[in-house]
Amino acid sequence: MTALEPTTVLPPGPLIDPSDPAFVADPYPAYAHVREATAVWHPDGGELTFLTRFADVHAAFRDRRLGVTFLHRYLPEELGLPPDVPVWRDARWTEFQAFERWELLNLEPPVHTRLRRLVLEAFTPRTVDGLRDGIAERARALLAPGREAGSIDLVADYAQRFSLGIICALIGVPTTDETMLLGWSEATVRMYEPAPSDDQQRASNEAAGAFRRYLLDLVVHRRRSPADDLLSALLDATIDGERLTDEQIASTAMVLLMAGHEAVVNATANGIALLAAHPDQWRHIVCGEVEPRAAIEEILRFDPPLQWFTRWVLEDGFTVDGIGIPRGSRVALVLAAANRDPRRHPDPERFDVTRADTTHLSLGGGIHFCIGAPLARLELETTLAELARTEEELAIVAPAVRRPTFQFRGYDRLVIALTRPS
Ligand code: HEM
Repeated sequence: MTALEPTTVLPPGPLIDPSDPAFVADPYPAYAHVREATAVWHPDGGELTFLTRFADVHAAFRDRRLGVTFLHRYLPEELGLPPDVPVWRDARWTEFQAFERWELLNLEPPVHTRLRRLVLEAFTPRTVDGLRDGIAERARALLAPGREAGSIDLVADYAQRFSLGIICALIGVPTTDETMLLGWSEATVRMYEPAPSDDQQRASNEAAGAFRRYLLDLVVHRRRSPADDLLSALLDATIDGERLTDEQIASTAMVLLMAGHEAVVNATANGIALLAAHPDQWRHIVCGEVEPRAAIEEILRFDPPLQWFTRWVLEDGFTVDGIGIPRGSRVALVLAAANRDPRRHPDPERFDVTRADTTHLSLGGGIHFCIGAPLARLELETTLAELARTEEELAIVAPAVRRPTFQFRGYDRLVIALTRPS
């Protein structure tokens, strides 16, 4: 097979371009255009090569010739990259790098395998199912003031406090510090946007430093007074007879705190906005034809909160659809495009909670598959079930405000009507 060059020029049509507000507002027409024009797209002069078809993205998540980093194997120069690429090598962002040094999503085996195994124990479907009643209670308590008032901002007054509260309790972070954590988390994750400005990177770097130091202090405190939480379990854990370092524990707790709420908050808002816009679909849930547990899979397929993840090509000979992608390339696995691939789903642009097959890639795949998937699913299911219990119709009662960010796709504000208790 001859390796071809990735396509650089496409027929006229909308393009994948996170710097374009129209694309950020609705990326799906561009995904469809690119996906149907080519399996592999490398915009002229761009840093990323895009994969958008379901089978290709599915396979790429599992392909060990790709890695979340290359630094465990190569110097940037060896891959023909400038020495300060990527952000982990930029001398200005040492605080962020200290966090990423032990961040699961930035590690490759064997370190990744060992650290992940320890964390997984806290998130098995069985362990998570044990949280079911407490989570339902938390949802009801947070919705109660909104029910009295007749409406609620689902983002600020419900989803953020719901998900962050749950993950804080699991890890053992005082709930009184939630507001501070929210600020740090939101600033830190800006570094993952496709082209963050220098100011955003600086703010992200500072927030990552403050967040990490807070967790390092908490680790010291927890060592003196252990509790029944994940932090204590990680302090107790050993890998091949060795204990985790404070840095490893702090980075692990930090990624769980951030991943553990940012994506769920956005998935909640995306889902409720979709269901409000499709009353026929909401009715399927309210009248019990479709279980909330099934409906959330269609929400995750149709409008995922995380649109793509990237990988480095670590070896020669990586091809997609017969097109060669050279070693040292950075590939974007556009899961949001793959989820709507007509090769995988009939009528993929239709939001339909009654679909028999809602298979999606929104939680990733392979060795980095989302650790929090059982918890994320339980949280989303609980919210839908709680709302379906009382709301025959879902109504958005103030202008919805979308987040201006791309990597985390969701809403800043989504006010819905709630039925007052009789
Ligand atoms: C709807 C909500 C969520 C979505 C859509 C989501 C999505 C994802 C995706 C796509 C990945 C893989 C990234 C990659 O391959 O590069 C991932 C990894 C991860 N997620 Fe989630 N996530 C969600 C909720 C959660 C929650 C609630 C937690 C924590 C409790 C969590 C913790 C993690 C962690 C730690 C990883 C890294 C795993 C590893 O590298 O081994 N996520 N998530």
